[in-house]
Amino acid sequence: MIDSGTIDQAVARLFSELSFQEQPAGLYDPLRYTVALGGKRLRPRLCLLAYSFFKDELNDGILSPAAGLEVYHSFTLIHDDVMDRSPLRRGSETVWKKWSETTAILSGDVMCIDAFKRIAQAPVEVLPEALSLFSRTASEVCDGQQMDMDFESREMVGMDEYMQMIGLKTGVLLACSAGLGALIGGADARSRECLYDYGYNLGLAFQLADDYLDAYGDEKTFGKPIGGDILNGKKSWLSVRAAELLSERAAARDAASDAACDTASAAARPCAAGPRAAAYPRAAAYPGAAAHPGPAAHPGPAAYPRPAAYHGGPCPGEASAAALAEALAAPAVSQEEKAAKIARLMALYESAGVAPAALSAISELTERAVSRGCEADISDSARDSLRSFAYSLVGRVK
Ligand code: IPE
Ligand code: IPE
Ligand code: MG
Ligand code: MG
Ligand code: MG
Repeated sequence: MIDSGTIDQAVARLFSELSFQEQPAGLYDPLRYTVALGGKRLRPRLCLLAYSFFKDELNDGILSPAAGLEVYHSFTLIHDDVMDRSPLRRGSETVWKKWSETTAILSGDVMCIDAFKRIAQAPVEVLPEALSLFSRTASEVCDGQQMDMDFESREMVGMDEYMQMIGLKTGVLLACSAGLGALIGGADARSRECLYDYGYNLGLAFQLADDYLDAYGDEKTFGKPIGGDILNGKKSWLSVRAAELLSERAAARDAASDAACDTASAAARPCAAGPRAAAYPRAAAYPGAAAHPGPAAHPGPAAYPRPAAYHGGPCPGEASAAALAEALAAPAVSQEEKAAKIARLMALYESAGVAPAALSAISELTERAVSRGCEADISDSARDSLRSFAYSLVGRVK
């Protein structure tokens, strides 16, 4: 096994020595710029960590593919920043902002090709499998990125769809990093699968943490603008879960109110329009109607008084899933509008109680990752390393 200090040094050396073609500078300078900005370099670290459980020495057969993973990741960020209109990455201007969108497209393309060249330096005996794993992963990331973009214009996205999307855009690359390290290290198929699953679940936890920090982080340490997901109308974990929590709360309130109405009706008293009616103005399709004794004993939805200003939509200022969807879709152009949109969503998140829910979901996924990784045929100290790697990754949300 190789210790974590040696891995850190190897990663630092790898990227300080990483070079790209000199000319045309307009094409390759953005690659040098992006790599020089650093980043956490999690994917090569994870690749070397998984490899280190099976081998005692590092060589080019693992270092080049490890670098390829980071180059591929950085390429996805260059294109992602164009897609997300993000001006800041790793605390500095994004490539499309510093140069242009056309530069970001072509420099990104050549960076993706460069990544494949580095992956192709894997030892010949595992090369077909390494290339197949990496190329499958690379296209899955694009699938996830497309889903992410498609979700922007959807009013509602379910948690299952969200998890599938982040599994593709983020989970698979961390999974591939661990799986590739294990493959090149000579691990058996079962251990490779366990380590792949470790990376996948960790990737999910990591994307949840990224979504959380996008709203609750500090730009200085996060290196990206806070509130970008809200301004883009992204279906982040926070917005998807907040919509769920608000719907669940409304359903619970409706059920409680229906029960109160039923009791009142049974006592032959007309059901008064209480706070529920005011908070949830309804159209004709009243879900509880069938269970009610009918118009004679119960005035029904038509009799619920509604404030004149709104009919059927959420009350202004009310925390509901519909209000959240509307606020997320609202255009914001001026600085004032942007600040107001962020403030509105943050208030809805607060009302839904989504921040603590995110922290426990992150812990749960991290635990799941660790317990799956620990099923690999590795030493106890390797298991400890998996645990500390996982916690260092998501620890920044605290
Ligand atoms: C950012 O990844 C994109 C996501 C998958 C959330 P990182 O947070 O690993 O970015 P860097 O490489 O450290 O800048
Ligand atoms: C990006 O997800 C994932 C990939 C680049 C594949 P995000 O859009 O959330 O990443 P950040 O927040 O810009 O780093
Ligand atoms: Mg994105
Ligand atoms: Mg982005
Ligand atoms: Mg993000």
